[in-house]
Amino acid sequence: MERIERRGFQIFSGFLDRPAQETVVARLRDCLRVAPLYQPVTPRGQKMSVRMSSAGRFGWVTDRRGYRYEPRHPEGMGWPPIPDEIMALWETVADCPRAPECCLINWYGEGARMGLHQDRDEVDFSCPVVSVSLGDEGLFRMGNEDRGGKTESVWLRSGDVVVMGGAARLKHHGVDRIRFGSSTLLPQGGRINLTLRVVT
Ligand code: SIN
Ligand code: FE2
Repeated sequence: MERIERRGFQIFSGFLDRPAQETVVARLRDCLRVAPLYQPVTPRGQKMSVRMSSAGRFGWVTDRRGYRYEPRHPEGMGWPPIPDEIMALWETVADCPRAPECCLINWYGEGARMGLHQDRDEVDFSCPVVSVSLGDEGLFRMGNEDRGGKTESVWLRSGDVVVMGGAARLKHHGVDRIRFGSSTLLPQGGRINLTLRVVT
């Protein structure tokens, strides 16, 4: 494992080895059987290219009513608990006394991307957001608290973990594109990104 820092983002490359990645994917499949992926819509009515679900007390959702956390999936079921392996990962890297209350599951198929944004629907910005990448490589762009200005990009690979805390907590970030089919972890290709958040 190698740890690098870019603009306050801490990147642990190769944090999860292949067997650990496979275990997490198996746990996520269980989660998605309870709370399936769905296609979110932005408050302006644009369909997002990623598909989403969540685990934990709260899930992050977006629709015409806005961005927010909800205790239930849009289809009505409760979110499944965050798998133990993912809670343990937070314990190791987050440097935070609180436990995550949401594990947002983002699934990127071919051509999916995520525009530059801030994660700011949470209450306590002293807690970091921890991201886990699985499957195909994704080009992760890191910017500033304000919109605009210089940005820097890094390819995130399967098993990489990013901690967005401290100076990076409110910095803009996004995924420009993925290299579809670059990993063998997910048999059908695609990228999964988990983001763990303390919500309240
Ligand atoms: C996000 O910021 O919500 C996703 C980041 C990623 O997919 O790496
Ligand atoms: Fe984000």
